[in-house]
Amino acid sequence: MKKSHGFVGSMAIACLLVSAGCNSRADEEAAAPTETAETTAPAETAAPAADVDLASLTGDASAGEQVFAVCTTCHSVEEGVNKTGPSLHGIVGREAGSVADFNYTDANKNSGITWTPEELFVYLADPQAKIPGTKMIFPGIKDPQQRADLIAYLETQS
Ligand code: HEC
Repeated sequence: MKKSHGFVGSMAIACLLVSAGCNSRADEEAAAPTETAETTAPAETAAPAADVDLASLTGDASAGEQVFAVCTTCHSVEEGVNKTGPSLHGIVGREAGSVADFNYTDANKNSGITWTPEELFVYLADPQAKIPGTKMIFPGIKDPQQRADLIAYLETQS
């Protein structure tokens, strides 16, 4: 009796010192984030969001400029400035593979795509699904609103 009493007593003290992990409240806190996690689509299994139509979204160009930050390692919007990827100056409405001094893959060059907002919307969700064999190594932007914002920004860069 005395022994177990002493044990419980010292556990209680330990719990006062290290409050997290000694009661169920800690478990509840740990469980909470899983509820919000459901709203975030799993990155790998997310389909190219074909269920959302660009026409149903309103793009915000200044928000899109922020999104474009993920493109800037490989792309510039300045005319004639090619990096790993071709200049995206005037990309909206441009024919695929049309930057003369950029060395495109045949996949991109011969895709026959004209980069309308709708085509960009699909492409930017999953570039390699839209153009199999492209050397644009980029997983895509799954959030349709971010894509709409990005396209609104690109439209201003012409
Ligand atoms: C890791 C480098 C990289 C990143 C990051 C990247 N791209 Fe690209 N992109 C490329 C390359 C390389 C090509 C040329 C593809 C080919 O020839 O197969 C390309 C091609 C393109 C094309 C087709 C251009 C044309 O003239 O036909 C568009 C549009 C495009 N990228 C948009 C974007 C946007 C918007 C982003 C950001 C969301 C982005 N890319 C991020 C490397 C990248």
